[in-house]
Amino acid sequence: MIENLHKIWEVEQYATLARLKGETTFTCYESVAEQLAGYTKARYQGAPEKTIEEVFTIYRGINIVPIDYYTEQGLITDIKVLYDSISNEVKDYRIGLGNNQGQTINRFLFPNMMTAEPKGRGSNSLRDRFLDDRKLHRAIKLCFEFREGQNLVSPTALRRALELVTGENVQNFKPMHARTLVEYLCPTIWGQVYDYSAGYGGRLLGITTSKMVFNYTGIDPNTETVGHLKYLNKLIHEAVGNSGQIIQSVSEEYEPEDIDLAFSSPPYFNLEKYCDEPTQCMNRYTTMDEWFEGYVVPTMRNIHKGLNTDGVFATNIADYKSYGNKEFKVVDRWISTAESLGFKHKQTIKMMLNTRPGVGNNKVEGREKFEGVYVFTK
Ligand SMILES: C[S@@+](CC[C@H](N)C(=O)[O-])C[C@H]1O[C@@H](n2cnc3c(N)ncnc32)[C@H](O)[C@@H]1O
Repeated sequence: MIENLHKIWEVEQYATLARLKGETTFTCYESVAEQLAGYTKARYQGAPEKTIEEVFTIYRGINIVPIDYYTEQGLITDIKVLYDSISNEVKDYRIGLGNNQGQTINRFLFPNMMTAEPKGRGSNSLRDRFLDDRKLHRAIKLCFEFREGQNLVSPTALRRALELVTGENVQNFKPMHARTLVEYLCPTIWGQVYDYSAGYGGRLLGITTSKMVFNYTGIDPNTETVGHLKYLNKLIHEAVGNSGQIIQSVSEEYEPEDIDLAFSSPPYFNLEKYCDEPTQCMNRYTTMDEWFEGYVVPTMRNIHKGLNTDGVFATNIADYKSYGNKEFKVVDRWISTAESLGFKHKQTIKMMLNTRPGVGNNKVEGREKFEGVYVFTK
C-alpha cells in the first residue's frame, strides 16, 4: 500500500533515498533546503521579482507537491506521537484554533483529496495550485510578504501559502478536533462511535487514538477513500493497538446499532464533489429537496433507531455560497429535520476558523469565523 501511495504522489525515488538514509519522513526538497534557506527577507527586499523567480525555478526544478511524505515506519511513529498528544478542550461551547497535529498524516494518506472539487469550480486542489505558474509565483510572494524569520520559503511554508492563494479548497477534518469533540460528547471509555461519512480519515485518526479506546465505526461509499481508510486503520492498529471498523456503504441505507455517539462532517449538499460514483449523495440527489428527502431523512432515521437512549447525535455542517454567489442554507433545515424526526437540539459548539490575510479581508477582522457542530439527543 505504501508503494502505491509513493507512486500516486510520484515520489518513489525520494522514498528510496529516505530509506537508504534511514529517514522516515521527507519533503523531496532536502537537496535544496540550504539554498532555499538562503532566501531571506532582506534578499527579497533587495530584488523582489528576481528572488521570486529564483525560488520559482528551484521548485519547478523538482516539481513535487510540497507536503510531508512518509515511509510506513514514519506513519506509525507519527500516529504514536498523536496518541500521546493532548488535544484542546471545548470551552464555553467553543474549540479554539490550532489542534493541527495529525493533519500531515492524512494529507499524505488521502491523495484523492487533491481531486475533490469545491463549489462546482473544478479541481482547485493544492496540486493544481502548485502546478499553476501564476499561483505558485503568488504563493512565493505571500511567503516573503507575510512571513518573518528563517526558512521563509520552505516546503511547509509554501504549502500553507498555496492554501491561501485563491478561494476555497477541500479541507480535511482535524483529527484533534475530532478527539476533542468525541471526548466531550461521549465521555465513556470504550464508547461506541458511529461516523456516518468517514471522509479523509480525520475522525478515524483522532478518535481511535484517544486514550478512551473508543469503538469507532466509519462508513463511506467512495471506493478510493475506503481503501485509504482501511490502510490508515491498519497502521493505527500497529501503532496503538486500537482500530476501528471501516465499511463501504451509504448512510441512508446503513443501519448502525448500539451507538453512544453518532458524529460526522457529512457532505454539505453539493459544496464539494468527491468523485463521480453514483453512490455519492450529491450525485444521487441533485436538488436540495431531493437531498434532504433521499439522503438526510433516512440517514437521521437510521441513526435515531441505532442510538442508545442516552446517546448523542452531532453534525458539523455549514451554510455556503456557490461559486456564482448563490446561497445554500442547510443548517436550519438540518436542525428542523432532526427535530421533526424526534431529536432535540441541545447545543451548538463553535469550531473557530482562521481568517485569510490579504487585500480586502480586513472586513472580517474582529468578526468571528467558525463552523458549527450541532448536538442533538433523543
Ligand atoms: C469528505 S467528507 C466531508 C469533508 C470533511 N471536511 C471531512 O473531511 O470530514 C464527506 C464524505 O461523505 C461521503 N459521502 C458521500 N455520499 C455519502 C452517503 N450517501 N453516505 C455516506 N457518506 C457519503 C463522501 O464520499 C466523502 O468522503
